[in-house]
Amino acid sequence: VANEKESMYLVSEFANKYFHNTLLHTEEGKAIGLTYFKERGFNNDMIAKFSLGYSPNSWDVFTKEALGKGYKLEFLEKTGLTIVKEDKQFDRFKGRVMFPIQSMSGRVLGFGGRILTNDKKAAKYVNSPESEIYHKSKVLYGIYHAKQAIAKHDNCYLVEGYTDVIQFHQAGIENVVASSGTALTPDQIRLISRLTKNITVLFDGDAAGLRASIRGIDLILEAGVNVKVCAFPDGEDPDSFAKKTPYEKLVAFLEENAKDFIQFKASLLMNEAKNDPIKKADLIRDMVVSISKIPDRIKQEVYLQECSRIMDISEDVLFNTLAQIDKKDL
Ligand code: CTP
Ligand code: MN
Ligand code: MN
Ligand code: MN
Ligand code: MN
Repeated sequence: VANEKESMYLVSEFANKYFHNTLLHTEEGKAIGLTYFKERGFNNDMIAKFSLGYSPNSWDVFTKEALGKGYKLEFLEKTGLTIVKEDKQFDRFKGRVMFPIQSMSGRVLGFGGRILTNDKKAAKYVNSPESEIYHKSKVLYGIYHAKQAIAKHDNCYLVEGYTDVIQFHQAGIENVVASSGTALTPDQIRLISRLTKNITVLFDGDAAGLRASIRGIDLILEAGVNVKVCAFPDGEDPDSFAKKTPYEKLVAFLEENAKDFIQFKASLLMNEAKNDPIKKADLIRDMVVSISKIPDRIKQEVYLQECSRIMDISEDVLFNTLAQIDKKDL
């Protein structure tokens, strides 16, 4: 089994080199893939750093090339690079630009492949399937290139997408990883918490991003990690925002808009429930539930005080509510 995993790593590394090389040194790769990345505003340094690639738009050229180099069909299939159907072989990522997904130590575990058109009927991203080497709930895109900066800044920006990570690096902000669109998991948070106890959530400025941020908060708190949330303007994501914002302004925006979770939740109230007492009550209860997730009693107390102050409600009531929630948990 150890050999099997090693073979899967090796074929993934081969695929990574093949896609990157195809992007940079073939007519099709340059005309289609490289043009796409340039139009998105990625420079050569980022294309090299993240080993971006292109998978040719034909049924099985990649698979044939890999087989010709001696890689076994078994491992092409197990990594999902090749789909085998009725004894025919198909390249999974046909005609897509490629984002290799690396482990903390830099090994290639899998890929995300983006379609080049805006065809709403086709999946925008196709990703490697779960495999012996790729467990998507345990992986964060960009962790290999972010780990030093995360430790140095003692903070980690958490974004949704591949392009958000890359655009931030290009802007000079390197302590950033992506959950890759899936719901954040405890394993992913543990990965970050080895490097820092501070996460700033930067999800897309849309309804889905907002929902994901709210879901993420309790999970992060539960891991004993401090969480701030920075909301982006409607319709913007970290990629689109960073692309059009000069470095100093970007840094200032992140500093000014990153709110601790109590303030973030309070700002939701301002937007949605201004004069509605029932909604206000629900929101306060929701804040106390979040506070109940914090393992550190002193921090709980400090957040209760902040909640009391911001929401203009007595600390006693909040404290009793917390005690009730704790009891229910037992
Ligand atoms: N994602 C996915 N499959 C999809 C859509 C999204 O795996 N069909 C994942 C990708 O990792 C993507 C992330 O979720 O990067 C965030 O999704 P989204 O915001 O829709 O994409 P962006 O990263 O903004 O990509 P782009 O700017 O290219 O549209
Ligand atoms: Mn496993
Ligand atoms: Mn989105
Ligand atoms: Mn996005
Ligand atoms: Mn985007």
